[in-house]
Amino acid sequence: MPNVAVIGAQWGDEGKGKVVDWLASRADIVVRFQGGHNAGHTLVVGNETYKLSLLPSGLVRGKLGVIGNGVVVDPDALLAEIARVEAQGLKVTPDRLRIAENTPLILPLHSALDRAREAARGEHKIGTTGRGIGPAYEDKVARRAIRVCDLAEPETVSRKLDELLLHHNTLLKGLGAETFEKQDLFDRLMALAPRILPYAEPVWERLDEARRAGRRILFEGAQAVMLDVDHGTYPFVTSSNTVAATAASGAGIGPGAVGFVLGIAKAYSTRVGSGPFPTELHDATGQLLGDRGHEFGTVTGRRRRCGWFDAVLVRQAVKVAGIQGIALTKLDVLDGLPELKICVGYRLGGEVVRRLPAAPAAQAAAVAEYETMEGWSGSTRGARSWADLPAQAVKYVRRIEELTEAPVTLLSTSPERDDTILVRDPFEG
Ligand code: GDP
Ligand code: IMO
Ligand code: MG
Repeated sequence: MPNVAVIGAQWGDEGKGKVVDWLASRADIVVRFQGGHNAGHTLVVGNETYKLSLLPSGLVRGKLGVIGNGVVVDPDALLAEIARVEAQGLKVTPDRLRIAENTPLILPLHSALDRAREAARGEHKIGTTGRGIGPAYEDKVARRAIRVCDLAEPETVSRKLDELLLHHNTLLKGLGAETFEKQDLFDRLMALAPRILPYAEPVWERLDEARRAGRRILFEGAQAVMLDVDHGTYPFVTSSNTVAATAASGAGIGPGAVGFVLGIAKAYSTRVGSGPFPTELHDATGQLLGDRGHEFGTVTGRRRRCGWFDAVLVRQAVKVAGIQGIALTKLDVLDGLPELKICVGYRLGGEVVRRLPAAPAAQAAAVAEYETMEGWSGSTRGARSWADLPAQAVKYVRRIEELTEAPVTLLSTSPERDDTILVRDPFEG
């Protein structure tokens, strides 16, 4: 019985939250393995809408949620999110949520540095969420991060704060931003410790036991392959690896346990923040996709940039992340459009290529080559079986399968949990 990893195949906001929530009914444990509260996952269940950033989406189904060591946790943001969903009627007690003891923390100085650096970049800004994600991962790799387990050792926190502040205050001062006082940070962390530590444990042990007992584990990715720090549109990326392989290292389990890799892709493209976007539309169609798809950031409220489906990019994501099946979402947003375009190549110099080059100037210069398809007049909104889809919509899906070299194994036709068509159960491999 394999496990399943759900990852974004484009630039994020593909509907991972909805798909994870839907699949969670078949899982025992849902694990976040990278990213932080830069993620915004929206789940619509009847009249209730849940917006989750750090909490694994399976909590809404009452499944055990695990935050793996590959995540960066802002303890204030976590507690605020717990309070928010508890106000919506969910229970997030330590028997429902476990956090890896070796998870690095995001501190207030990380978001301060994130924002100060973005301001200094001016027009070259990355368009980060300003949540301190990048600086927190930098500190992890630099071996000075304060981790969840350190909260039980005040002396460790004190020593690490000295090192952190030496580094960060120097940078913040250089950037003309406010610096931080050790005592303030120390007191704040010590006040947080008793509220965070009850969730902490070596989650690798729990996951190992679950795996051996045949429990189903669902790995919930954040961001997406084109935001992966190695494989994405660098430097316009996030600071973690978002590909499915990260589920293993970011949770503390072997790569063989990751299971089926389900890539989530929208039936068109969107992107928040700066960076290349070859199929971006600056016209009325782009506006229409944004309006109909409610393309506003869950976390930032920023309007998302919109464009046609980019089969070159999704095919590349399929290859680099080992995506075995695609969950295609938001097909309903295309209802009624007379004509649809799919990017099938990039013109670069005199050539047409089927990959996004790695160098930034080449990426920015790539011009999308399109194939045009007729749209459909009927509605796909809320469809729950293939038979409910207009023939032309099925053709569009089939063409996406051919071009991306991956089967569409799941289809989503509205934000609502049950408006989903299952073609092949990913837990069956
Ligand atoms: P995530 O970050 O990948 O979890 O995606 P977000 O939640 O940030 O953004 C996806 C948005 O699309 C959310 O508002 C979802 O409620 C919505 N959504 C998900 N699937 C569908 C769908 O099939 N059709 C429509 N119209 N909306 C969807
Ligand atoms: P979910 O999980 C869309 C983008 C930011 C910015 C870049 C770097 O909801 O799909 P960061 O704050 O991570 O350093 O910002 O990455 N970004 C996302 N875009 N969806 C997300 O998450 C994102 N998380 C980060 O907009 O361009
Ligand atoms: Mg999102």
